[in-house]
Amino acid sequence: MKVRFAGRDPLRDVTAYRSTEPANTAANEPGRFDLSSNELVLPPLPPLPTVLSVIEDGLSRLARYPDPTARTITEEIAKHLHVSPDAVAVGPGSAGVLQQILLALCGVGDEVIYAWPGFDAYPLLVAISGATSVHVPLTSTGDHDLDEIRARVGPRTRVILLCSPHNPTGVVIDRHRLDSFLRSLPGDVLTVLDEAYVEFDRGENPPGTPDVLSRHRNIVVLRTFSKAYGLAGLRIGYAAGPERIMVTVRKAGLPFGVTHIAEQAAILSLHSEGELRGRLDTVTVSRDELTAGLRWSGLPVLPSRANFVWLPLAAAADSFAQDLAEAGIRVRPYPGYGVRISVGAPEAQESLLRSLGRGVPTIWV
Ligand SMILES: Cc1ncc(COP(=O)(O)O)c(C=O)c1O
Repeated sequence: MKVRFAGRDPLRDVTAYRSTEPANTAANEPGRFDLSSNELVLPPLPPLPTVLSVIEDGLSRLARYPDPTARTITEEIAKHLHVSPDAVAVGPGSAGVLQQILLALCGVGDEVIYAWPGFDAYPLLVAISGATSVHVPLTSTGDHDLDEIRARVGPRTRVILLCSPHNPTGVVIDRHRLDSFLRSLPGDVLTVLDEAYVEFDRGENPPGTPDVLSRHRNIVVLRTFSKAYGLAGLRIGYAAGPERIMVTVRKAGLPFGVTHIAEQAAILSLHSEGELRGRLDTVTVSRDELTAGLRWSGLPVLPSRANFVWLPLAAAADSFAQDLAEAGIRVRPYPGYGVRISVGAPEAQESLLRSLGRGVPTIWV
């Protein structure tokens, strides 16, 4: 049989999402640590404690379909962001919602611009939409090169993807630079600001929802319950932006794409600000200790505002990750660029620093 991949040529050349890696193991084995993935890996930090109870309650409803429009969580998110429910789209993870945005806005012959290295799913999601990816290298400080991104905008550009704090560098986009960037764009180009890690940014100048949404009409902000809220396994995320765009983005979603358990857990998560704050304090302290420890070991580390840190090791990235793998510590190499290390449990971070051969600085003992 001769099948035709109508208008989806870019899909043939793109690699399936992290297809060469083993499935996530349930937990670290004794003496071995996985710091390669950005779920919350700092025990004891599963979903917020209050949220666990609704997950258990939801088990009795598994034979029933969820609300096809996920109305209750949509309304809760709208309240949380001070926008109208019509300005919100909820989906199976923020990756799922990003797919809806790209399917709604892009097709064959269109271009989507984003900084590289970036989140591994971007090339795949752009290819699924039929559009072509345009990569713009990050600056040496791990930042978006907004001038170069602007220079690459042309008649085929439909969407620009920005990520702040950026995965994999943890660097945030300055709000004033973002404002002038958005003002400089042609009216038919939409910017999607991926804020998957925004809760970890305790800085004074985060780009930030809902502020940016009230100042600009050409931006959609993407957020997730997977990272700070610890719900990666339930798959729920959302986008907020202009109503005339979001109405189509909602239509591009898979019917019943958000489960009842995910919806209930997300609602309770939004109401558990106190528990979230406590957790974020712990992550921030661990991140700063990890940064200090790695620098003390003589390694270059960018100042991160996420739950991971970035070592711009360029050509040495692969061998660095390989050496650590042999010592039982998994980190994420980006060959030719650098290495991303997720904030981990104290014993994982301690083991990492010991493996680097300079012992542990006094903050660890
Ligand atoms: C920058 C960025 N955006 C989005 C996602 C997707 O998150 P989810 O689909 O779990 O909401 C990730 C996950 O790693 C990410 O790093």
